[in-house]
Amino acid sequence: MKPEDILKFSLADFTYNDSEAVLSPPGDFDTWIQDPRVGLAMSFFEQPLHKSPRPRTELSGGHLGERRPVINLTSYNYLGLSTHPEVVQAAAQALMHYGVGASGAAMLSGTFDQHVKLSEELAAFKGQDACMLFSSGYGGNLGAIQGLMQKGDVLVIDSKCHRSVVDGATLSGAKMVSFAHNDAASLDETLSRYQGKRRLVVVEGVYSMDGDTADLPALLDVCDAHDVPLYLDEAHSSLVYGESGRGLGEHFGVEDRIGVHFGTLSKAFGGVGGFVCGEESIIRYLKCYAASFQFSCALPPAIVAAMRKSLEVATRDNTLREKLWANVRHFRSNLGAMGLDLGESTSQVIPIIVGSSGQQLIELAMAAQERGLYLQPIDFPAVESHSRRFRISVSAQLTAEDIDEASNIIEDVIAKPLGLVGAA
Ligand SMILES: Cc1ncc(COP(=O)(O)O)c(C=O)c1O
Repeated sequence: MKPEDILKFSLADFTYNDSEAVLSPPGDFDTWIQDPRVGLAMSFFEQPLHKSPRPRTELSGGHLGERRPVINLTSYNYLGLSTHPEVVQAAAQALMHYGVGASGAAMLSGTFDQHVKLSEELAAFKGQDACMLFSSGYGGNLGAIQGLMQKGDVLVIDSKCHRSVVDGATLSGAKMVSFAHNDAASLDETLSRYQGKRRLVVVEGVYSMDGDTADLPALLDVCDAHDVPLYLDEAHSSLVYGESGRGLGEHFGVEDRIGVHFGTLSKAFGGVGGFVCGEESIIRYLKCYAASFQFSCALPPAIVAAMRKSLEVATRDNTLREKLWANVRHFRSNLGAMGLDLGESTSQVIPIIVGSSGQQLIELAMAAQERGLYLQPIDFPAVESHSRRFRISVSAQLTAEDIDEASNIIEDVIAKPLGLVGAA
């Protein structure tokens, strides 16, 4: 690989390993990743936080290295529950009572009274018969889709669905096809092509890279017309959307038309884990055949106890949700006034799309961190190469002052260099 070609490559180019030895990465990978320019871009990954994932925290790594205070716009702690005093106290009490790990898979010794209660509470919250817990959201989609689908079936997914959905399809042996993002006509055409097959449609509540929401009423009309069930991944919409926080299904008043309700405990819940809610019979079946449920250690009981408290705090009233949405409106209005490209986002996930230059994205990210703003760059292949971006995760914990200070920095280090608002 010639030095002048380094920046023509991306992580998408090394998926296939052409080396003879399994334990050697592809021939050019080391040359590429050890180049200082690539190293700079990679330095934005795995930057250690030194305090809780609040809006005001401390970060090290990146091109600046040393530990420093930052305004954090990257954590998924949408409602601030990760650090909510009641949630932390529930975790601490349970930690002293149960110890650290579950020490077993859920089917064997890993189910504690806390797991049983959280499953019941989540099922009741979602208005479903039953619920099962997974140790992560990724493992939840992986296991549920692998358990539901089999060779000969067709999984029909939105083209922007999360990797965990794609990997679940691969594991199941089912054929996977995608329809154009959020496009009911494309879904209709795709389902028609596979008439006669066992089919399942998967969409997300809030799309994690774009912050737009599924057009559930239109998509469900198509599913109903084909008599195909819908699996809804509410990873980013649980506790955020709907009057009671039940998600986008509640927001649109279509919950009873959804076949499988999926959620994660790692975003607004402030913890870790995944859950699947649905009819008793299918949850009973999945518990026996979802491999990531059967063959992985259950969630730590202290986390489960904390998640029960998160659910209680987030649903006893609307205070946190209202604060989050007020913050979303405030931030969106500041960013909109700068003329930034926020894509199709309507949610608490707000991309700032900067375009096709990876180098420019990294320069802007460096400038943001130099000004004390932790705003992660999202590069190709995580998003399409013409729409490299930053992604803001708005939190209810942000104060109006935090939002204005962060907005001022964004104006100086992103909007102005992009030639927007009063560029010098
Ligand atoms: C839509 C979606 N589904 C599933 C997951 C996986 O969840 P977790 O991070 O809890 O494993 C994510 C994670 O970002 C996601 O965005």
